[in-house]
Amino acid sequence: MSWKQEAKRKAADRAIHHVKSGMVVGLGSGSTAAEGIRALGERLRNGELTDVKGVPTSYQAIQEAIKVKVPLTTLDEYPELDMGFDGVDQMDHDLNAIKGGGGALLREKIVASCCREYILIADNSKLADILGTGQAVYCEVHPIAVTPVMRKLEAIGGTPVVRQATGKLGPVVTDNGNNLIDVDFGPIKDPKALNQRLHSVQGLLETGLFIGYADLAYVGTETDVLKLTK
Ligand code: A5P
Repeated sequence: MSWKQEAKRKAADRAIHHVKSGMVVGLGSGSTAAEGIRALGERLRNGELTDVKGVPTSYQAIQEAIKVKVPLTTLDEYPELDMGFDGVDQMDHDLNAIKGGGGALLREKIVASCCREYILIADNSKLADILGTGQAVYCEVHPIAVTPVMRKLEAIGGTPVVRQATGKLGPVVTDNGNNLIDVDFGPIKDPKALNQRLHSVQGLLETGLFIGYADLAYVGTETDVLKLTK
């Protein structure tokens, strides 16, 4: 296993130690969150935890949870979640993050907003001093609005690209039937203000700027796991 994969696994494992029996937990998407789902399945299987349910943030999270027998539920049944964990594409030292590299940002942010405790997990290649440095902001956009949204994103200083699918012709279609626009803004001075600005663009349904959601983060390094708090 590469050090990065091992770092993701160790960070995910630390987050899973916040789960107690009886909890309902938001299950993130991506390769790091998948390590967390596996660790959760393992603790349920060996009896360390009982009666835990998960709310998935994507079809991928559903599949991972089914594989390791983590029972699933919905926000209709549990609109408030005890905790949630998820990976990041980039994270700053205030625990603000850019997410959505796997295209799951809309459900990820809905679930994040419902968690009493929200934990980010990553390897330390994801840490940045300033969000947006060498990293696009991912946005989910309604299919009929792609062209006008592209123009508006350019007008506010971004360089937008419609994400193209691999294994299928044409643009990526998300779990929600929408498209993705990846926007390079360069280093972002005020991520909260940019997030608000993006939300004023009609047809842009959600951004991958996760500002103020995380309570703490576990970041795996080659030798250790760092615990970052706000
Ligand atoms: C999914 O849309 C993303 O937000 C992922 O959580 C993020 O891309 C991190 O993925 P990895 O853990 O695979 O790097």
